[in-house]
Amino acid sequence: MNETRKFSEGLLDDEIILKKLKITLGQTILDAGCGNGYMAKKFSALVGHTGKIYALDPDKVSISTLRKEVEKTNIVALVGDITKITEIKECSIDLVYLSTVFHIFSYSQIAGFEKEIKRISKPGAKLAIVNIKKENAPFGPPIEMRSSPEELRQKLSFIPGEVIEVNEHFYMQLFEKI
Ligand SMILES: C[S@@+](CC[C@H](N)C(=O)[O-])C[C@H]1O[C@@H](n2cnc3c(N)ncnc32)[C@H](O)[C@@H]1O
Repeated sequence: MNETRKFSEGLLDDEIILKKLKITLGQTILDAGCGNGYMAKKFSALVGHTGKIYALDPDKVSISTLRKEVEKTNIVALVGDITKITEIKECSIDLVYLSTVFHIFSYSQIAGFEKEIKRISKPGAKLAIVNIKKENAPFGPPIEMRSSPEELRQKLSFIPGEVIEVNEHFYMQLFEKI
């Protein structure tokens, strides 16, 4: 993403992502760094009325717009920073989805992210991280800010699962155990 591209909507193969996430009715999902919340809306239908989606972002304008759009749905839009303690209850989340956000984090933010994910996740919860590949692309942050799947796995202490190609320029790393 460059400064003019704030959301990944339209860039990723959402079908592949949703198939691999195996979302079920009743789950509680966190879309961390949700931007305009387009994936939170897709998750919403899949968890049904017994499930819940938290759409979290520090950008007050994005969250305020999203909050109006998702009134009376199972989506709760929250202003927050996922590298710090959030309003989300401990041990309440089945799946954390973090798309095109990880490259922004400093080392100390990665440590804070891990801590908060561990606090809010249920035992057996999953984490899915979508990143831009560490290779030339017509858009996106500088190469040195990006992580390959191997580097991502080294930076986080969670148990890694599958790496999925979500299109030419992006991959999704699943972590099976938090
Ligand atoms: C490139 S956008 C991606 C938005 C969305 N995930 C998507 O795929 O379209 C990066 C988002 O990360 C958010 N962000 C930056 N730092 C964050 C943090 N510490 N915690 C949560 N979100 C953060 C930004 O506000 C922005 O909305």
